[in-house]
Amino acid sequence: MKVSRALRKRHSCRAFLAREVDFAKIKRILTLASRAPSGANTQPWRVAVVSGRSKLAIENEIETQFRAGNRSRADYQYYPVQWSEPYKSRRFACGLQLYNALGIGREDKDRRREQWIENYRAFGAPVVLYFYMQSHLEAGSYMDFGMFLQSVMLAAEEEGLATCPQAALAEYPEIVKQKLGLGDGFVLLCGMALGYEDTSAPINQYRTPRARLEDFVTFHQ
Ligand SMILES: Cc1cc2nc3c(=O)[nH]c(=O)nc-3n(C[C@H](O)[C@H](O)[C@H](O)COP(=O)(O)O)c2cc1C
Repeated sequence: MKVSRALRKRHSCRAFLAREVDFAKIKRILTLASRAPSGANTQPWRVAVVSGRSKLAIENEIETQFRAGNRSRADYQYYPVQWSEPYKSRRFACGLQLYNALGIGREDKDRRREQWIENYRAFGAPVVLYFYMQSHLEAGSYMDFGMFLQSVMLAAEEEGLATCPQAALAEYPEIVKQKLGLGDGFVLLCGMALGYEDTSAPINQYRTPRARLEDFVTFHQ
């Protein structure tokens, strides 16, 4: 598969088929993604491949806590504390596209909440990848990790698999780290749903827009 095709084809998939993913595929994806560059070849990435009973145990616990109103905090601040333009509008549009695709109105708080909870089940994907790294690592390692994440998603495309990177899956880091047997000293960055796309699901029908080149690039000669 050409890189350009993989880049265009990748999108955040939020409904999956109930079809197992061959572990050999996952190993190929992660091996290939580890070709991603990192400062001084530090390779900060760590990955837990979670499925079956382990996946269920984590998501059950998180959903229970969420429904009980017990909120937690991610290990790091992913989103801006103060939203400003153009990010505020883009975020709003992003949510609107998702809820419109499902026919969920703005006022329908119950259905929005239930849809949000789908995050904690990785939208029904058979596999979740949890990404973490040592917590003393600095901003450069977060950059390196981002390159690794995109590499995972593109390699998955080549294997015929769909993904959804999910910050939501890092909202209860203590539960995830306890279930995965990770000691202190790790920062849980995000999760990623992995599986075969349900191409007929309404939630998978839309594609997100991007700013025009002129809006984010300047040329200097
Ligand atoms: C690190 C990261 C975390 C994200 N977290 C979530 C999430 O928790 N839930 C979700 O539904 N989408 C999540 N997304 C998906 C974004 O909403 C999506 O990438 C964006 O809207 C662009 O759409 P596309 O991925 O389909 O091109 C996340 C994306 C990234 C890169």
